[in-house]
Amino acid sequence: MKFFIDTADLNEIQEANDLGVLDGVTTNPSLCHKVGVSDFEGHIAKICDIVDGDVSAEVISTEYADIIAEGRNIASIADNVVVKVPLIKDGIKAIKTFTEEGIKTNCTLCFSATQAMIAAKAGATYISPFIGRVDDISNDGMTIIEDIVQIYDNYGFETEILAASIRHPMHVLEAARLGADVATMPLKVIEQLLKHPLTDTGLERFISDWEKLQESLKK
Ligand code: E4P
Repeated sequence: MKFFIDTADLNEIQEANDLGVLDGVTTNPSLCHKVGVSDFEGHIAKICDIVDGDVSAEVISTEYADIIAEGRNIASIADNVVVKVPLIKDGIKAIKTFTEEGIKTNCTLCFSATQAMIAAKAGATYISPFIGRVDDISNDGMTIIEDIVQIYDNYGFETEILAASIRHPMHVLEAARLGADVATMPLKVIEQLLKHPLTDTGLERFISDWEKLQESLKK
């Protein structure tokens, strides 16, 4: 499974990248707002410099011609940029055009398996089902992942399933068990994935016993 970080914060991206297990980045207008991005293209270029993998940058247009113009401009920022397009009629038409032009796309705001089928037929590079937001309204986001995995397997769709809106490590674990290709998550969740209290107490004991051994050797 690929791990993407879901943020526009350059420090967080650098920190996750330094860990050596980061495969890409997803951003969106809300995440850009959160860190006060003023120069969007310059900011995306900086992210693309930090990370080797795919970096999703989202269009804000909602009409076909505007999405195409905006997406082509985003695609020109760097080789590893992916144009993030909302799952609406004009977005699907734009994804089809971008696919024909060899521009990578991430189809965002997916909340159902039928939407994911349409995105795959348009040739999206990634489909982003928003797990957490579905859970937030008392539905089961993970069943959407399960359905998409089965449908894409049935028909050999090459679109990668990018589990998004991840809130905690169990979302990552379950998405991985079901076969999602990618999980995008905040830095906090990446850190939670590697933490275990028994690792911490076990390490404390090893260090303390080693120090006791050194003391006893001095006697
Ligand atoms: C992914 O590409 C989205 O930007 C993101 O995962 C949405 O997450 P949220 O529901 O926490 O805003």
